[in-house]
Amino acid sequence: MIHELPKLPYELDALKPHISRETLEYHYGKHHKAYVDKLNELIAGTEYAGMTLDRIVRSAAPGAVFNNAAQAWNHTFYFCGFSPTPKAKPEGALAAAIDRDLGGFDAMKEAMSKAGAGQFGSGWAWLVRDKEGKLEVAATANAANPMTDGLTPLLVIDVWEHAYYIDYRNRRPDYLKEVWNIIDWAVVENRFAETEHGR
Ligand code: FE2
Repeated sequence: MIHELPKLPYELDALKPHISRETLEYHYGKHHKAYVDKLNELIAGTEYAGMTLDRIVRSAAPGAVFNNAAQAWNHTFYFCGFSPTPKAKPEGALAAAIDRDLGGFDAMKEAMSKAGAGQFGSGWAWLVRDKEGKLEVAATANAANPMTDGLTPLLVIDVWEHAYYIDYRNRRPDYLKEVWNIIDWAVVENRFAETEHGR
């Protein structure tokens, strides 16, 4: 199985001014692509060659295969959470779960931004669902993905410097404030509905 860089569901300049074309040219066009290309190179002729990306992330031991597979997965999940015309707030079952488990939409956003700002070095801030269906906010380092802990990701924000340095320089908290303007809650609602069915 050859893994491919997914096509973005928007144009490269569609997310400005929150994320610029130049950031996407580097972040998606070079960084994300490099993880996919490297993964294909690493798995050729190995036990991972026939596996889906999801399965590699869930089963690979710590090391280069896991790092590149998880980075490919995480970036696709991140970029597909954006829209130039996003649904600004969740509704229905997802909104109710956020109210129940995380104290409401604003408190959830604050907790996720705080998790991202507090992640030392490179990593990711996540909204996840645990095995019992409870929502949680988490941060992971480097390539780590919560699926390896049995959690189901619903939303992720990349806090590697390459995600924000062109547009925000060292101001990670400013990026974490602006990024909410392009997160599409219709996408997150769909992901949440899929986990409902999968339980
Ligand atoms: Fe990234």
